[in-house]
Amino acid sequence: MPDPVQPDAATLIDELVRQLAGHFDKNQPLNIVGIRTRGAILADRIVHRLRLLGFDKIDHGVIDVTLYRDDLSRLSARTPAGPTRLDLKLDNNPLLIIDDVLSTGRTMRAALDALADYGRPGATRVAVLVDRGGRELPIEADFVGHRIADLPKDRRVWVHLRELDGKDEVLVGDAPSTHTPPGPTWKHKHLLTLEELSREEIELIFATADTFSEVSTRSVKKVPALRGKVVVNAFFEDSTRTRMSFSLAAQRLSADVLDFSEKGSSASKGETLIDTARNIEAMGIDVMVIRHASSGSAQMLSRALKCSVVNAGDGAHEHPTQGLLDAYTIRQRLGKVEGMNVAIVGDIANSRVARSDIWALTKLGAKVTLIGPPTLLPRSFEKLTPGVRVLNDFDVELASFDVINMLRVQNERMKSAQFPTIREFTRLFGLTWDRFQRCKKDVLVLHPGPMNRGVEIHNEIADGPNSGILKQVENGLAIRMAVLYLVTHAG
Ligand code: CP
Repeated sequence: MPDPVQPDAATLIDELVRQLAGHFDKNQPLNIVGIRTRGAILADRIVHRLRLLGFDKIDHGVIDVTLYRDDLSRLSARTPAGPTRLDLKLDNNPLLIIDDVLSTGRTMRAALDALADYGRPGATRVAVLVDRGGRELPIEADFVGHRIADLPKDRRVWVHLRELDGKDEVLVGDAPSTHTPPGPTWKHKHLLTLEELSREEIELIFATADTFSEVSTRSVKKVPALRGKVVVNAFFEDSTRTRMSFSLAAQRLSADVLDFSEKGSSASKGETLIDTARNIEAMGIDVMVIRHASSGSAQMLSRALKCSVVNAGDGAHEHPTQGLLDAYTIRQRLGKVEGMNVAIVGDIANSRVARSDIWALTKLGAKVTLIGPPTLLPRSFEKLTPGVRVLNDFDVELASFDVINMLRVQNERMKSAQFPTIREFTRLFGLTWDRFQRCKKDVLVLHPGPMNRGVEIHNEIADGPNSGILKQVENGLAIRMAVLYLVTHAG
């Protein structure tokens, strides 16, 4: 059983406030930043107490250091990052960083690293409720509520605070065994298909994306998780969303990013895909994101290259990150994917998005109905995996779908005479306004883009409240950050 530390936590907080009030000048500006989670709660309380003592020039923020930790690869996804709120003017103003326990100094170092991304603070001081010794880095606290000299490594300090733990207390006891129950781990150096992933692996990508999506809400939208890595976007087909999303995802993780387009490259002089890829790899890259018109191209490169390969769409085969972001958007909007009735409508035969959606959604427990004309939707799709049905009539079960994912009519892949006319396609398989009126009131409408407005989807539906289309694009960024992070940290 852990033993309570005396004096108690409330007295230790009083002690810290006393030291801080004696040191800082209440008439001078002071920035106070608490390290999430308990350091932030302590900072809230201390700021409140100091303001009562007349410190009315305090600016106050919260920092989450998860994505700056040097052991991030061991923590990933089990320790989601929380919000960082640093709407304060750091430059040259004195800064006080508050945390609950100081031990190795690694959390404080991560905080200093993170804060350096937001500005150049003036004189920086550290306050902790408990200094338990065991330092591994040259970091000391300036203000300490309670000091425990050189607590053995097999003992641990817990700070409990009433906001989070129901009561204030500081406890010392035996550290739990370092063997943490095995969480999900990522083993894939490449992301080539969703067919090869398990449900747990897809959920691990989602959990990692949850962590990274928070980065996009920060005033500094960048973390060092891929610092020193090089990501190449090798796009042999046109793209707006996927290409920009992978570029931005890599940049948000602090990777160096190279963009390769087939147009203007030596591919036009007859250089093969493998030669092109090997030459790019020779420049020392870590990840190649590849989009190519040939099914299987990503897999082929994964065998020829030493770096990680991420499939950004290979012919009509798969578009794994699209499948992931579609399922992630459903989970976000509807709370879950399991049990959802999802229609994927249109040109299924030519669609890599449909294939990746089928794998992601069925693995996560959704019921998938594929809808389209027989020429664009072979019955054989029903044999792909359990949980998939084929319908050649959009209207018959229209009111039963929780999600309708409208696919783009792919003129560039369409063989002639797969349907009579565009007008005919819209009449039978488009999400027209009339059809939309017969759907569930809160049906979620998705589209991978680019849209043919007025062909597969009515203008007002695409821009209306049921549309998750721009959310898909927003979520794509977090999903691609997660994928880039995981493939470069495969265990
Ligand atoms: N959804 C999608 O793949 O769009 P882009 O072709 O613009 O990348």
